Amino acid sequence: MWSSSLLVLSTIILPASTAVVKEGSTCIVTPISATPAAIALRSIDAVPPVGPEKLSPRQDRPDDTSQILSAFSQCGRDGTIIFREGTYHIRQVMDTADLRNVSIEIYGTFLWSADNLSYWRQRSFSVTYAGRQTAWRIGGRDITMKGFGKALFDGNGQAWIDLARGQGNLNGRPINLTIWRGTNVLIDGIRWRMAQFWHTFVAHSQNVTMTNLGMHTFSTNGQSSDCIAIKGNSSNVHVSNIVCHESGAMTLGSVGSNAVQPDYVENVVFDNITAIHSSNAAWIKTYPGTGYVRNVTFRNIKFEDVNQPIYITSCIYSYQNCDSSRLKISDIRWENITGTSRYNVAVGIHCSASTPCENLRFSGIDIRPKNGGAAKMLCSNVRNQASSGLQCTGPCPGSHPQQLSGNV
Ligand SMILES: *[C@@H]1O[C@H](CO)[C@@H](O)[C@H](O)[C@H]1NC(C)=O
Ligand SMILES: *[C@@H]1O[C@H](CO)[C@@H](O)[C@H](O)[C@H]1NC(C)=O
Ligand SMILES: *[C@@H]1O[C@H](CO)[C@@H](O)[C@H](O)[C@H]1NC(C)=O
Ligand SMILES: *[C@@H]1O[C@H](CO)[C@@H](O)[C@H](O)[C@H]1NC(C)=O
Ligand SMILES: *[C@@H]1O[C@H](CO)[C@@H](O)[C@H](O)[C@H]1NC(C)=O
Ligand SMILES: *[C@@H]1O[C@H](CO)[C@@H](O)[C@H](O)[C@H]1NC(C)=O
Ligand SMILES: *[C@@H]1O[C@H](CO)[C@@H](O)[C@H](O)[C@H]1NC(C)=O
Ligand SMILES: *[C@@H]1O[C@H](CO)[C@@H](O)[C@H](O)[C@H]1NC(C)=O
Repeated sequence: MWSSSLLVLSTIILPASTAVVKEGSTCIVTPISATPAAIALRSIDAVPPVGPEKLSPRQDRPDDTSQILSAFSQCGRDGTIIFREGTYHIRQVMDTADLRNVSIEIYGTFLWSADNLSYWRQRSFSVTYAGRQTAWRIGGRDITMKGFGKALFDGNGQAWIDLARGQGNLNGRPINLTIWRGTNVLIDGIRWRMAQFWHTFVAHSQNVTMTNLGMHTFSTNGQSSDCIAIKGNSSNVHVSNIVCHESGAMTLGSVGSNAVQPDYVENVVFDNITAIHSSNAAWIKTYPGTGYVRNVTFRNIKFEDVNQPIYITSCIYSYQNCDSSRLKISDIRWENITGTSRYNVAVGIHCSASTPCENLRFSGIDIRPKNGGAAKMLCSNVRNQASSGLQCTGPCPGSHPQQLSGNV
Protein backbone atom coordinates (compact mmCIF):
# COMPACT_ATOMS: atom_id res chain seq x y z
CA MET A 1 0.00 0.00 0.00
CA TRP A 2 2.76 2.30 1.07
CA SER A 3 4.79 1.59 -2.01
CA SER A 4 1.88 1.91 -4.40
CA SER A 5 0.99 5.36 -3.14
CA LEU A 6 4.63 6.24 -3.52
CA LEU A 7 4.42 4.96 -7.05
CA VAL A 8 1.56 7.26 -7.92
CA LEU A 9 3.35 10.14 -6.30
CA SER A 10 6.49 9.50 -8.25
CA THR A 11 4.58 9.47 -11.52
CA ILE A 12 3.41 12.97 -10.83
CA ILE A 13 6.67 14.45 -9.68
CA LEU A 14 8.95 12.47 -11.98
CA PRO A 15 11.26 14.84 -13.82
CA ALA A 16 10.99 14.14 -17.53
CA SER A 17 14.51 12.90 -18.03
CA THR A 18 15.01 10.79 -14.93
CA ALA A 19 14.28 7.16 -14.65
CA VAL A 20 15.38 6.52 -11.05
CA VAL A 21 13.63 8.45 -8.31
CA LYS A 22 14.73 8.16 -4.73
CA GLU A 23 12.22 8.76 -1.97
CA GLY A 24 13.75 8.17 1.44
CA SER A 25 15.33 4.73 1.25
CA THR A 26 13.21 3.64 -1.73
CA CYS A 27 14.34 3.85 -5.32
CA ILE A 28 11.67 3.71 -7.99
CA VAL A 29 12.85 2.80 -11.44
CA THR A 30 11.00 3.38 -14.70
CA PRO A 31 12.29 1.88 -17.94
CA ILE A 32 13.94 4.43 -20.20
CA SER A 33 11.51 3.51 -22.95
CA ALA A 34 8.61 4.37 -20.62
CA THR A 35 9.87 7.70 -19.27
CA PRO A 36 7.70 10.71 -20.04
CA ALA A 37 10.55 12.03 -22.21
CA ALA A 38 10.68 8.92 -24.35
CA ILE A 39 6.91 8.69 -24.63
CA ALA A 40 6.66 12.34 -25.60
CA LEU A 41 9.39 11.86 -28.16
CA ARG A 42 7.65 8.86 -29.66
CA SER A 43 4.36 10.67 -29.98
CA ILE A 44 5.96 13.71 -31.65
CA ASP A 45 7.99 11.57 -33.94
CA ALA A 46 5.23 9.13 -34.83
CA VAL A 47 6.55 8.49 -38.35
CA PRO A 48 9.11 5.71 -38.15
CA PRO A 49 12.57 6.99 -38.97
CA VAL A 50 13.96 5.83 -42.31
CA GLY A 51 17.65 5.39 -41.73
CA PRO A 52 19.78 4.50 -38.73
CA GLU A 53 21.23 8.04 -38.77
CA LYS A 54 17.82 9.33 -37.71
CA LEU A 55 17.95 7.46 -34.45
CA SER A 56 19.98 8.46 -31.48
CA PRO A 57 21.57 5.41 -29.86
CA ARG A 58 19.38 5.94 -26.84
CA GLN A 59 16.15 5.73 -28.80
CA ASP A 60 17.30 2.96 -31.07
CA ARG A 61 18.77 0.69 -28.47
CA PRO A 62 18.00 1.93 -25.02
CA ASP A 63 20.14 0.48 -22.29
CA ASP A 64 18.66 0.45 -18.83
CA THR A 65 21.70 -1.20 -17.27
CA SER A 66 23.24 1.92 -15.79
CA GLN A 67 20.05 3.13 -14.17
CA ILE A 68 19.37 -0.31 -12.72
CA LEU A 69 22.87 -0.31 -11.26
CA SER A 70 22.35 3.21 -10.01
CA ALA A 71 19.20 2.13 -8.15
CA PHE A 72 21.16 -0.72 -6.58
CA SER A 73 23.94 1.59 -5.49
CA GLN A 74 21.53 4.18 -4.05
CA CYS A 75 19.07 1.82 -2.36
CA GLY A 76 20.83 -1.54 -2.20
CA ARG A 77 21.62 -1.16 1.49
CA ASP A 78 18.75 -0.78 3.95
CA GLY A 79 16.42 0.10 1.13
CA THR A 80 13.74 -0.91 -1.30
CA ILE A 81 14.02 -0.91 -5.06
CA ILE A 82 10.86 -0.93 -7.14
CA PHE A 83 11.02 -1.66 -10.83
CA ARG A 84 7.81 -0.40 -12.34
CA GLU A 85 6.03 -2.03 -15.24
CA GLY A 86 7.54 -1.88 -18.69
CA THR A 87 10.57 -3.32 -20.44
CA TYR A 88 14.08 -2.80 -19.13
CA HIS A 89 16.69 -3.34 -21.82
CA ILE A 90 19.85 -4.86 -20.45
CA ARG A 91 22.89 -4.63 -22.65
CA GLN A 92 25.67 -5.18 -20.12
CA VAL A 93 26.52 -7.56 -17.33
CA MET A 94 25.41 -6.48 -13.89
CA ASP A 95 27.23 -7.02 -10.64
CA THR A 96 25.20 -6.21 -7.55
CA ALA A 97 27.24 -8.22 -5.13
CA ASP A 98 27.30 -6.15 -2.00
CA LEU A 99 23.65 -5.75 -1.01
CA ARG A 100 22.44 -5.52 2.58
CA ASN A 101 18.86 -5.63 3.83
CA VAL A 102 17.23 -4.83 0.53
CA SER A 103 13.83 -5.57 -0.84
CA ILE A 104 13.62 -5.67 -4.61
CA GLU A 105 10.19 -5.58 -6.23
CA ILE A 106 9.97 -6.20 -9.94
CA TYR A 107 6.77 -5.55 -11.89
CA GLY A 108 8.31 -5.31 -15.35
CA THR A 109 10.25 -7.30 -17.91
CA PHE A 110 14.02 -7.49 -17.93
CA LEU A 111 15.06 -8.09 -21.51
CA TRP A 112 18.65 -9.08 -22.17
CA SER A 113 19.83 -7.75 -25.53
CA ALA A 114 20.24 -10.09 -28.43
CA ASP A 115 21.81 -7.83 -31.03
CA ASN A 116 25.23 -8.28 -29.53
CA LEU A 117 25.42 -11.96 -28.81
CA SER A 118 29.18 -11.98 -29.10
CA TYR A 119 29.28 -9.68 -26.11
CA TRP A 120 27.38 -12.21 -24.00
CA ARG A 121 29.34 -15.10 -25.39
CA GLN A 122 32.60 -13.41 -24.43
CA ARG A 123 31.42 -13.28 -20.87
CA SER A 124 31.95 -16.95 -20.70
CA PHE A 125 34.53 -17.23 -18.00
CA SER A 126 33.91 -19.89 -15.49
CA VAL A 127 32.31 -17.62 -12.92
CA THR A 128 31.86 -20.45 -10.52
CA TYR A 129 35.40 -20.63 -9.34
CA ALA A 130 37.09 -17.61 -10.81
CA GLY A 131 34.70 -15.13 -9.27
CA ARG A 132 34.24 -13.39 -12.58
CA GLN A 133 31.18 -11.82 -14.06
CA THR A 134 27.96 -13.47 -15.03
CA ALA A 135 25.02 -11.77 -16.75
CA TRP A 136 23.76 -10.78 -13.33
CA ARG A 137 25.44 -11.55 -10.08
CA ILE A 138 23.58 -10.91 -6.85
CA GLY A 139 25.18 -11.19 -3.46
CA GLY A 140 25.22 -9.81 0.05
CA ARG A 141 22.91 -10.31 3.01
CA ASP A 142 19.19 -10.18 3.68
CA ILE A 143 17.95 -9.83 0.14
CA THR A 144 14.44 -10.43 -1.10
CA MET A 145 13.55 -10.23 -4.75
CA LYS A 146 9.90 -10.62 -5.56
CA GLY A 147 8.18 -10.63 -8.90
CA PHE A 148 4.57 -11.19 -7.79
CA GLY A 149 4.09 -13.35 -10.87
CA LYS A 150 4.54 -10.21 -12.98
CA ALA A 151 8.29 -10.03 -13.34
CA LEU A 152 9.61 -11.61 -16.49
CA PHE A 153 13.28 -12.24 -17.23
CA ASP A 154 13.56 -12.57 -20.96
CA GLY A 155 16.74 -13.97 -22.44
CA ASN A 156 15.69 -13.17 -25.98
CA GLY A 157 15.85 -16.81 -26.92
CA GLN A 158 15.06 -16.65 -30.60
CA ALA A 159 18.23 -14.78 -31.50
CA TRP A 160 20.31 -17.44 -29.79
CA ILE A 161 18.46 -20.17 -31.57
CA ASP A 162 18.98 -18.48 -34.93
CA LEU A 163 22.65 -18.05 -34.18
CA ALA A 164 22.97 -21.69 -33.20
CA ARG A 165 21.22 -22.74 -36.39
CA GLY A 166 23.49 -20.61 -38.57
CA GLN A 167 26.62 -22.02 -36.99
CA GLY A 168 25.81 -25.67 -36.59
CA ASN A 169 26.96 -26.95 -33.27
CA LEU A 170 27.51 -23.56 -31.73
CA ASN A 171 29.17 -23.58 -28.38
CA GLY A 172 26.85 -21.02 -26.85
CA ARG A 173 27.55 -19.59 -23.45
CA PRO A 174 24.87 -19.57 -20.83
CA ILE A 175 23.78 -16.19 -19.61
CA ASN A 176 23.60 -16.67 -15.90
CA LEU A 177 21.77 -15.27 -12.96
CA THR A 178 24.02 -16.04 -10.06
CA ILE A 179 23.45 -15.88 -6.36
CA TRP A 180 27.05 -15.42 -5.30
CA ARG A 181 28.12 -15.11 -1.68
CA GLY A 182 24.51 -14.49 -0.68
CA THR A 183 23.18 -15.00 2.83
CA ASN A 184 19.47 -14.98 3.60
CA VAL A 185 18.23 -14.55 0.06
CA LEU A 186 14.67 -15.04 -1.15
CA ILE A 187 13.76 -15.07 -4.82
CA ASP A 188 10.05 -15.46 -5.43
CA GLY A 189 7.46 -15.21 -8.16
CA ILE A 190 9.53 -14.58 -11.28
CA ARG A 191 9.04 -16.06 -14.70
CA TRP A 192 11.87 -16.67 -17.09
CA ARG A 193 11.57 -16.84 -20.84
CA MET A 194 14.86 -17.42 -22.40
CA ALA A 195 17.35 -18.99 -24.68
CA GLN A 196 18.63 -22.45 -24.15
CA PHE A 197 21.71 -20.75 -22.80
CA TRP A 198 20.32 -19.78 -19.48
CA HIS A 199 21.34 -20.95 -16.13
CA THR A 200 20.51 -19.88 -12.62
CA PHE A 201 22.87 -20.90 -9.94
CA VAL A 202 23.77 -20.49 -6.33
CA ALA A 203 27.37 -20.57 -5.10
CA HIS A 204 29.12 -19.78 -1.84
CA SER A 205 25.77 -18.97 -0.29
CA GLN A 206 23.72 -19.79 2.77
CA ASN A 207 20.01 -19.62 3.51
CA VAL A 208 18.74 -19.23 0.01
CA THR A 209 15.10 -19.80 -0.89
CA MET A 210 13.86 -19.81 -4.45
CA THR A 211 10.18 -20.34 -4.92
CA ASN A 212 7.33 -19.94 -7.40
CA LEU A 213 9.55 -19.64 -10.43
CA GLY A 214 8.62 -20.63 -13.95
CA MET A 215 11.37 -21.18 -16.42
CA HIS A 216 10.65 -21.71 -20.04
CA THR A 217 13.60 -22.13 -22.32
CA PHE A 218 13.84 -23.21 -25.92
CA SER A 219 16.13 -25.96 -26.98
CA THR A 220 17.05 -26.67 -30.54
CA ASN A 221 20.03 -28.93 -30.24
CA GLY A 222 19.56 -30.76 -26.99
CA GLN A 223 22.38 -28.79 -25.40
CA SER A 224 20.79 -27.13 -22.46
CA SER A 225 21.57 -25.61 -19.13
CA ASP A 226 19.95 -26.34 -15.87
CA CYS A 227 16.96 -24.52 -14.54
CA ILE A 228 18.62 -24.23 -11.17
CA ALA A 229 22.02 -25.46 -10.13
CA ILE A 230 23.44 -25.41 -6.64
CA LYS A 231 27.19 -25.03 -6.79
CA GLY A 232 30.00 -25.20 -4.31
CA ASN A 233 30.11 -24.12 -0.71
CA SER A 234 26.40 -23.53 -0.38
CA SER A 235 24.13 -24.60 2.43
CA ASN A 236 20.53 -24.34 3.56
CA VAL A 237 19.10 -23.89 0.11
CA HIS A 238 15.40 -24.43 -0.43
CA VAL A 239 14.00 -24.55 -3.93
CA SER A 240 10.28 -25.14 -4.40
CA ASN A 241 7.33 -24.72 -6.75
CA ILE A 242 9.34 -24.53 -9.93
CA VAL A 243 8.29 -25.40 -13.46
CA CYS A 244 11.05 -25.98 -16.02
CA HIS A 245 10.32 -26.41 -19.69
CA GLU A 246 12.90 -27.45 -22.24
CA SER A 247 15.98 -27.14 -20.08
CA GLY A 248 17.60 -29.10 -17.38
CA ALA A 249 15.85 -29.16 -14.07
CA MET A 250 17.46 -29.47 -10.64
CA THR A 251 21.16 -30.10 -10.40
CA LEU A 252 23.51 -30.07 -7.51
CA GLY A 253 26.88 -29.33 -9.07
CA SER A 254 29.12 -29.38 -10.67
CA VAL A 255 31.18 -29.15 -7.50
CA GLY A 256 34.75 -30.06 -6.63
CA SER A 257 36.43 -28.78 -9.78
CA ASN A 258 39.56 -27.73 -7.96
CA ALA A 259 41.17 -30.84 -6.56
CA VAL A 260 43.08 -28.95 -3.87
CA GLN A 261 40.12 -26.83 -2.76
CA PRO A 262 37.36 -28.68 -0.97
CA ASP A 263 33.75 -27.93 -1.79
CA TYR A 264 31.07 -28.29 0.85
CA VAL A 265 27.38 -28.43 0.07
CA GLU A 266 24.74 -29.40 2.59
CA ASN A 267 21.11 -29.08 3.62
CA VAL A 268 19.49 -28.62 0.25
CA VAL A 269 15.84 -29.30 -0.56
CA PHE A 270 14.21 -29.35 -3.96
CA ASP A 271 10.46 -29.71 -3.57
CA ASN A 272 7.49 -29.63 -5.96
CA ILE A 273 9.32 -29.38 -9.24
CA THR A 274 7.86 -30.02 -12.68
CA ALA A 275 10.17 -30.66 -15.62
CA ILE A 276 8.95 -30.99 -19.18
CA HIS A 277 11.19 -32.29 -21.95
CA SER A 278 14.32 -31.83 -19.89
CA SER A 279 17.80 -33.22 -19.85
CA ASN A 280 17.63 -34.05 -16.17
CA ALA A 281 15.34 -34.09 -13.20
CA ALA A 282 17.33 -34.62 -10.00
CA TRP A 283 21.08 -34.83 -10.33
CA ILE A 284 24.35 -34.63 -8.40
CA LYS A 285 27.50 -33.98 -10.39
CA THR A 286 30.95 -33.80 -8.91
CA TYR A 287 34.46 -33.70 -10.21
CA PRO A 288 36.90 -36.14 -8.63
CA GLY A 289 37.68 -33.64 -5.87
CA THR A 290 37.40 -33.25 -2.13
CA GLY A 291 34.77 -32.03 0.30
CA TYR A 292 31.24 -33.29 0.62
CA VAL A 293 27.67 -33.15 -0.59
CA ARG A 294 25.31 -34.18 2.16
CA ASN A 295 21.75 -33.95 3.40
CA VAL A 296 20.03 -33.26 0.09
CA THR A 297 16.38 -34.01 -0.63
CA PHE A 298 14.68 -34.19 -4.01
CA ARG A 299 10.98 -34.43 -3.26
CA ASN A 300 7.75 -34.36 -5.30
CA ILE A 301 9.42 -34.16 -8.67
CA LYS A 302 7.22 -34.81 -11.63
CA PHE A 303 8.36 -34.87 -15.22
CA GLU A 304 7.80 -35.84 -18.81
CA ASP A 305 10.31 -36.98 -21.39
CA VAL A 306 13.50 -36.45 -19.43
CA ASN A 307 16.75 -37.70 -20.95
CA GLN A 308 18.12 -39.13 -17.71
CA PRO A 309 16.00 -38.41 -14.66
CA ILE A 310 18.24 -39.43 -11.75
CA TYR A 311 21.99 -39.29 -12.06
CA ILE A 312 25.09 -39.15 -9.90
CA THR A 313 28.59 -38.95 -11.23
CA SER A 314 31.86 -38.59 -9.37
CA CYS A 315 33.76 -37.53 -12.49
CA ILE A 316 31.70 -35.16 -14.53
CA TYR A 317 32.93 -34.14 -18.00
CA SER A 318 36.25 -35.99 -18.00
CA TYR A 319 34.90 -39.40 -16.94
CA GLN A 320 38.44 -39.96 -15.60
CA ASN A 321 39.58 -40.80 -12.05
CA CYS A 322 35.97 -41.54 -11.15
CA ASP A 323 36.93 -44.04 -8.50
CA SER A 324 39.55 -41.95 -6.78
CA SER A 325 37.24 -39.01 -5.97
CA ARG A 326 37.28 -38.19 -2.26
CA LEU A 327 34.27 -35.91 -2.45
CA LYS A 328 31.83 -37.69 -0.18
CA ILE A 329 28.17 -37.91 -1.16
CA SER A 330 25.89 -38.91 1.71
CA ASP A 331 22.39 -38.62 3.15
CA ILE A 332 20.60 -37.99 -0.12
CA ARG A 333 16.90 -38.66 -0.52
CA TRP A 334 14.70 -38.96 -3.58
CA GLU A 335 11.02 -39.08 -2.60
CA ASN A 336 8.01 -39.20 -4.88
CA ILE A 337 9.84 -38.94 -8.18
CA THR A 338 7.48 -39.76 -11.03
CA GLY A 339 7.43 -39.39 -14.77
CA THR A 340 8.73 -40.65 -18.07
CA SER A 341 12.31 -41.07 -19.21
CA ARG A 342 13.26 -40.50 -22.84
CA TYR A 343 15.16 -43.80 -23.03
CA ASN A 344 15.26 -46.96 -20.98
CA VAL A 345 17.36 -45.58 -18.13
CA ALA A 346 15.66 -44.10 -15.10
CA VAL A 347 18.69 -43.96 -12.84
CA GLY A 348 22.43 -43.79 -13.53
CA ILE A 349 24.58 -43.59 -10.41
CA HIS A 350 28.32 -43.96 -10.38
CA CYS A 351 29.88 -43.13 -7.03
CA SER A 352 33.60 -43.21 -6.34
CA ALA A 353 34.92 -46.65 -5.40
CA SER A 354 37.30 -45.10 -2.88
CA THR A 355 34.57 -42.92 -1.31
CA PRO A 356 31.27 -44.70 -1.92
CA CYS A 357 27.96 -42.90 -1.61
CA GLU A 358 26.39 -43.43 1.77
CA ASN A 359 22.83 -43.42 2.94
CA LEU A 360 21.07 -42.88 -0.39
CA ARG A 361 17.32 -43.30 0.15
CA PHE A 362 14.70 -43.79 -2.50
CA SER A 363 10.95 -43.91 -2.06
CA GLY A 364 8.01 -43.44 -4.37
CA ILE A 365 10.14 -43.74 -7.49
CA ASP A 366 7.97 -44.40 -10.53
CA ILE A 367 9.85 -43.71 -13.74
CA ARG A 368 8.76 -45.32 -16.98
CA PRO A 369 10.40 -45.10 -20.37
CA LYS A 370 8.11 -43.02 -22.56
CA ASN A 371 8.16 -45.65 -25.29
CA GLY A 372 7.32 -48.49 -22.93
CA GLY A 373 9.39 -51.34 -21.58
CA ALA A 374 11.21 -51.58 -18.29
CA ALA A 375 13.43 -48.83 -16.94
CA LYS A 376 17.02 -49.66 -15.98
CA MET A 377 18.39 -48.53 -12.66
CA LEU A 378 22.16 -48.58 -12.91
CA CYS A 379 24.26 -48.15 -9.79
CA SER A 380 27.84 -48.63 -8.66
CA ASN A 381 29.58 -48.01 -5.35
CA VAL A 382 26.49 -47.29 -3.31
CA ARG A 383 27.01 -48.43 0.25
CA ASN A 384 24.18 -50.59 1.63
CA GLN A 385 22.52 -50.44 -1.73
CA ALA A 386 20.14 -53.24 -0.82
CA SER A 387 18.49 -51.14 1.86
CA SER A 388 18.43 -47.90 -0.17
CA GLY A 389 14.96 -48.57 -1.51
CA LEU A 390 16.23 -48.75 -5.08
CA GLN A 391 16.23 -52.03 -6.99
CA CYS A 392 19.40 -51.63 -9.00
CA THR A 393 19.25 -53.61 -12.25
CA GLY A 394 22.96 -53.46 -13.06
CA PRO A 395 26.24 -51.62 -12.59
CA CYS A 396 26.88 -48.10 -13.82
CA PRO A 397 30.34 -47.57 -15.30
CA GLY A 398 32.28 -44.37 -14.61
CA SER A 399 31.96 -43.54 -18.28
CA HIS A 400 28.18 -43.55 -18.16
CA PRO A 401 27.33 -40.22 -19.84
CA GLN A 402 25.07 -37.56 -18.41
CA GLN A 403 23.11 -37.41 -21.65
CA LEU A 404 22.03 -40.51 -23.48
CA SER A 405 21.32 -40.69 -27.16
CA GLY A 406 19.34 -43.91 -27.14
CA ASN A 407 18.51 -46.99 -25.13
CA VAL A 408 21.41 -48.69 -23.40
C1 LIG B 1 16.31 -2.62 6.74
O1 LIG B 1 16.00 -1.53 5.90
C2 LIG B 1 14.82 -0.84 6.26
C3 LIG B 1 14.58 0.22 5.22
O2 LIG B 1 14.27 -0.39 4.01
C4 LIG B 1 14.98 -0.25 7.63
O3 LIG B 1 13.77 0.38 8.00
C5 LIG B 1 15.33 -1.32 8.62
O4 LIG B 1 15.62 -0.76 9.86
C6 LIG B 1 16.54 -2.10 8.14
N1 LIG B 1 16.77 -3.24 9.03
C7 LIG B 1 17.91 -3.40 9.65
C8 LIG B 1 17.99 -4.63 10.50
O5 LIG B 1 18.84 -2.63 9.54
C1 LIG C 1 28.98 -5.34 -28.25
O1 LIG C 1 29.31 -5.06 -26.89
C2 LIG C 1 30.66 -4.70 -26.68
C3 LIG C 1 30.88 -4.52 -25.20
O2 LIG C 1 29.95 -3.62 -24.66
C4 LIG C 1 30.99 -3.43 -27.44
O3 LIG C 1 32.37 -3.15 -27.29
C5 LIG C 1 30.68 -3.65 -28.92
O4 LIG C 1 30.85 -2.44 -29.61
C6 LIG C 1 29.24 -4.10 -29.09
N1 LIG C 1 29.00 -4.41 -30.50
C7 LIG C 1 27.87 -4.05 -31.09
C8 LIG C 1 27.75 -4.48 -32.53
O5 LIG C 1 27.00 -3.42 -30.53
C1 LIG D 1 27.31 -19.67 -16.83
O1 LIG D 1 27.58 -20.80 -16.04
C2 LIG D 1 28.10 -21.89 -16.75
C3 LIG D 1 28.29 -23.06 -15.83
O2 LIG D 1 27.68 -22.91 -14.65
C4 LIG D 1 29.44 -21.51 -17.36
O3 LIG D 1 29.91 -22.59 -18.12
C5 LIG D 1 29.24 -20.30 -18.24
O4 LIG D 1 30.48 -19.89 -18.70
C6 LIG D 1 28.59 -19.17 -17.48
N1 LIG D 1 28.28 -18.09 -18.40
C7 LIG D 1 28.50 -16.82 -18.12
C8 LIG D 1 28.07 -15.85 -19.17
O5 LIG D 1 28.96 -16.45 -17.07
C1 LIG E 1 20.59 -18.77 8.33
O1 LIG E 1 19.27 -18.81 8.85
C2 LIG E 1 19.23 -19.30 10.19
C3 LIG E 1 17.80 -19.49 10.57
O2 LIG E 1 17.05 -18.41 10.18
C4 LIG E 1 19.98 -18.34 11.10
O3 LIG E 1 19.98 -18.81 12.41
C5 LIG E 1 21.42 -18.22 10.60
O4 LIG E 1 22.09 -17.23 11.36
C6 LIG E 1 21.46 -17.81 9.14
N1 LIG E 1 22.82 -17.87 8.66
C7 LIG E 1 23.54 -16.79 8.44
C8 LIG E 1 24.93 -17.03 7.98
O5 LIG E 1 23.11 -15.66 8.56
C1 LIG F 1 3.55 -26.74 -6.61
O1 LIG F 1 4.01 -25.78 -7.54
C2 LIG F 1 3.01 -25.27 -8.37
C3 LIG F 1 3.66 -24.28 -9.32
O2 LIG F 1 4.69 -24.86 -9.93
C4 LIG F 1 1.95 -24.57 -7.55
O3 LIG F 1 0.92 -24.14 -8.41
C5 LIG F 1 1.40 -25.52 -6.53
O4 LIG F 1 0.52 -24.82 -5.69
C6 LIG F 1 2.53 -26.09 -5.70
N1 LIG F 1 2.03 -27.09 -4.78
C7 LIG F 1 2.20 -26.99 -3.49
C8 LIG F 1 1.66 -28.13 -2.70
O5 LIG F 1 2.82 -26.07 -2.97
C1 LIG G 1 34.87 -23.72 0.61
O1 LIG G 1 34.99 -23.23 1.91
C2 LIG G 1 36.16 -23.67 2.60
C3 LIG G 1 36.18 -23.11 3.98
O2 LIG G 1 34.95 -23.23 4.59
C4 LIG G 1 37.39 -23.22 1.86
O3 LIG G 1 38.53 -23.75 2.48
C5 LIG G 1 37.33 -23.71 0.44
O4 LIG G 1 38.42 -23.17 -0.28
C6 LIG G 1 36.04 -23.28 -0.24
N1 LIG G 1 35.96 -23.92 -1.53
C7 LIG G 1 35.83 -23.25 -2.65
C8 LIG G 1 35.75 -24.06 -3.89
O5 LIG G 1 35.78 -22.03 -2.70
C1 LIG H 1 19.02 -31.41 6.55
O1 LIG H 1 18.55 -30.32 5.78
C2 LIG H 1 17.26 -29.88 6.18
C3 LIG H 1 16.82 -28.83 5.21
O2 LIG H 1 17.74 -27.77 5.09
C4 LIG H 1 17.33 -29.37 7.61
O3 LIG H 1 16.04 -28.98 8.01
C5 LIG H 1 17.84 -30.47 8.51
O4 LIG H 1 18.01 -29.95 9.80
C6 LIG H 1 19.17 -30.98 8.00
N1 LIG H 1 19.57 -32.12 8.77
C7 LIG H 1 20.74 -32.20 9.36
C8 LIG H 1 21.02 -33.44 10.09
O5 LIG H 1 21.56 -31.27 9.31
C1 LIG I 1 3.98 -36.43 -5.41
O1 LIG I 1 4.37 -35.22 -6.05
C2 LIG I 1 3.34 -34.63 -6.81
C3 LIG I 1 3.91 -33.37 -7.43
O2 LIG I 1 5.04 -33.67 -8.13
C4 LIG I 1 2.15 -34.30 -5.95
O3 LIG I 1 1.12 -33.80 -6.75
C5 LIG I 1 1.68 -35.53 -5.22
O4 LIG I 1 0.67 -35.17 -4.32
C6 LIG I 1 2.83 -36.15 -4.46
N1 LIG I 1 2.42 -37.40 -3.87
C7 LIG I 1 2.62 -37.67 -2.60
C8 LIG I 1 2.18 -39.03 -2.16
O5 LIG I 1 3.14 -36.87 -1.83
